[in-house]
Amino acid sequence: MQQFEFYNPVKIVFGEGQIAKLATLVPANARVLVLYGGGSIKKNGTYTEVMDALKNHSVTEFSGIEANPTFETMMKAVAQIKAEKIDFLLAVGGGSVIDGTKFAAAAALYEGEPWDILTSHGRNLQAALPMGAVLTLPATGSEMNNGAVITRSETKTKLAFMNPLVFPRFAVLDPTKTYSLPARQIGNGAVDAFVHVVEQYLTYPAHAPVQDRFAESLLQTLIEVGPQALATPHDYTVRANLMWAATMALNGLIGAGVPQDWATHMVGHELTALYNIDHAQTLAIILPSMLNVRRATKSEKLLQYADRVWGITEGSDDARIDAAIAKTRDFFEAMGVKTRMRDYGLEVSAIETVLEQLKAHGMVALGERGDVDLATSKLVLEGSY
Ligand code: NZQ
Ligand code: ZN
Repeated sequence: MQQFEFYNPVKIVFGEGQIAKLATLVPANARVLVLYGGGSIKKNGTYTEVMDALKNHSVTEFSGIEANPTFETMMKAVAQIKAEKIDFLLAVGGGSVIDGTKFAAAAALYEGEPWDILTSHGRNLQAALPMGAVLTLPATGSEMNNGAVITRSETKTKLAFMNPLVFPRFAVLDPTKTYSLPARQIGNGAVDAFVHVVEQYLTYPAHAPVQDRFAESLLQTLIEVGPQALATPHDYTVRANLMWAATMALNGLIGAGVPQDWATHMVGHELTALYNIDHAQTLAIILPSMLNVRRATKSEKLLQYADRVWGITEGSDDARIDAAIAKTRDFFEAMGVKTRMRDYGLEVSAIETVLEQLKAHGMVALGERGDVDLATSKLVLEGSY
């Protein structure tokens, strides 16, 4: 096992009716800004519950955070935070709202040019406003981690930053608030969480059986509850398990002490920034081909994945790896997430455009061994067309 530090200070408040606890979770004397997206929280009752819980607090709002939150939108929130002397941020929504809020929390106290927070990937942060989250979409894990992904629409650049200063103080997870999610977002959420686990698990053996078996349990849970969440949208138990699996998939626990990949995410980010394809859709496009192209360097973990996650034990090594990749693709498709670039109406010429963006953004040595260069990404993209 590699050396590691594990730190996660996010208090999780889980279950039906728990939004009422915001009354005490949010500091009593804070000047609170509630941030949200396009209005789903008003349709499903979340907004009313949040405002009821905060009725004795000083509260203003910022709405309109888009999926794949932009720098441009979030700088408007920063202006409001400064004008109103806000000192606590509450994100209410999915990963985009939580990520956007993390950026605003950091940018509001940043001395230099705020875009540098992204280009330096969060390394230079000295301070951030405190924030909390109410999660309505199980997918990204943003509610319990210190990362955020922001897009500059001007240049079609989607970059991530990480810093312990932007861990939420708390996250409220009420599974009933996910009942209103359209099937597309349930599919996206299960696929995103699945790929988060794969990025931290399917690398090379690190003699870390605790991390491996935690990861396998999350993958098996997602394979089990993902289709159930589509079939029976109002099943509390199913939604609760999907929600907790997605949170656990990217809260630092399974990635501690093991090599991590993230090449699928980095290539996927370019597809979203260029063509506005949903984050999880990009992962469903890229991952099967990524595993296929890199099967030699990932063979030991691919065979472990085939056996322990999918129960594939028969046939040659290559046959078992092929079967595991096929099962992965079938799972994504069963969740309603298409796995080919052409399914999203992209032309073959998109491959070159993505490669140019990867080069422009310095994404030329990706993966757990840093060996995913542009030539490898080209093979991956060709295989995912
Ligand atoms: O804007 P509203 O009206 O709220 O609608 C949203 C949005 O249209 C809707 N929605 C959310 N909760 C709902 C709901 N609709 C009905 N009922 C509900 N309960 O769903 C749509 C998508 O929301 P979004 O927040 O964009 O989805 P998701 O949670 O998948 O977040 C995606 C973003 O997270 C980033 C992605 O890159 C992308 O920008 N990621 C963040 C990570 C992190 N911070 O650790 C890691 C991930 O790998 C990912 O990159
Ligand atoms: Zn993701």
